[in-house]
Amino acid sequence: MEDSKKAQVIVIGNAKGGSGKSTTAMHLAVALMELGHTVATVDLDVRQGSLSRFIENRRAFAHRQSLELPIPEHTGLAPDSYGNKSAGRVEQERLGDLIARLGPVMDVIVIDTPGSDTMLSRVGHTWADVLVTPLNDSFLDLDVLARIDGETLHIAGPSQYAEMIWDQRKKRVQLGLPAIDWIVMRNRLSNLNARNKHVMADILGDLSGRIGFRLAPGFGERVVFRELFLKGLTVMDLGSVAGESRLTLSHVAARQEVRALVAALNVLPPVVLPSNVPPLATVLATE
Ligand SMILES: Nc1ncnc2c1ncn2[C@@H]1O[C@H](COP(=O)(O)OP(=O)(O)O)[C@@H](O)[C@H]1O
Ligand SMILES: [Mg+2]
Repeated sequence: MEDSKKAQVIVIGNAKGGSGKSTTAMHLAVALMELGHTVATVDLDVRQGSLSRFIENRRAFAHRQSLELPIPEHTGLAPDSYGNKSAGRVEQERLGDLIARLGPVMDVIVIDTPGSDTMLSRVGHTWADVLVTPLNDSFLDLDVLARIDGETLHIAGPSQYAEMIWDQRKKRVQLGLPAIDWIVMRNRLSNLNARNKHVMADILGDLSGRIGFRLAPGFGERVVFRELFLKGLTVMDLGSVAGESRLTLSHVAARQEVRALVAALNVLPPVVLPSNVPPLATVLATE
């Protein structure tokens, strides 16, 4: 199946809710379609269903306004049974079948995941060619990547999520698949707290070298990233849709942020792990 799969699978993941996964998924999907790519979207968080509702809203808005909006081919995939962490086989099969169907005919498959460690989320992560992790710009959210000592701000050890990704990467190395290209982007960046921002940047820079992710330019804290949800529109649609033609400076900046993220998806080759991958804790412990 890998032979016939041409689609690049982009998984949006972070073990925390509210970090901007669904927002990033919507904006990436629309921005990639705007560039002429065929895009399928998969919602693995049907309980919240943000991405699914966004696409429904988009379809309804296009219908009401008789507009030809680019709309991704969307599938919501429910877990086999809520809370059953031992299952996984059914989920693996369902997602495998879906990707086998979409892979040969799509350029990109964007997979949105829930903000919790469910079997379905793990299964989703195994398919990632690219993993995009939006991270709220706060110390509270850094612990998705690593445990940070509050006194010294030193890295105290890996987080559960980073361990999970590390395991997936090992699996891919063993299966002879290309490494996951892991991209971390800061979300909801504000102009305030300039000092914290620099400390965050330092810690992230340090972590990126150790854990093996790339840092991409993030999104600012902007109303426009959420106000268009009910219409199923993104900042990428503004200007081309009737009634949504007025572009403010913040809109233009937001659009540039989305374009910069899209550009970051393909610029650098992914980090290559050695075939005898050491435990993540060992990597983080070396000075
Ligand atoms: N850059 C941003 N600026 C302003 N609001 C944002 C931004 N990113 C996300 N949000 C808002 O934050 C909330 C959580 O975002 P969401 O994409 O649903 O996160 P997740 O999917 O990780 O749970 C939503 O209300 C969303 O509109
Ligand atoms: Mg979500």
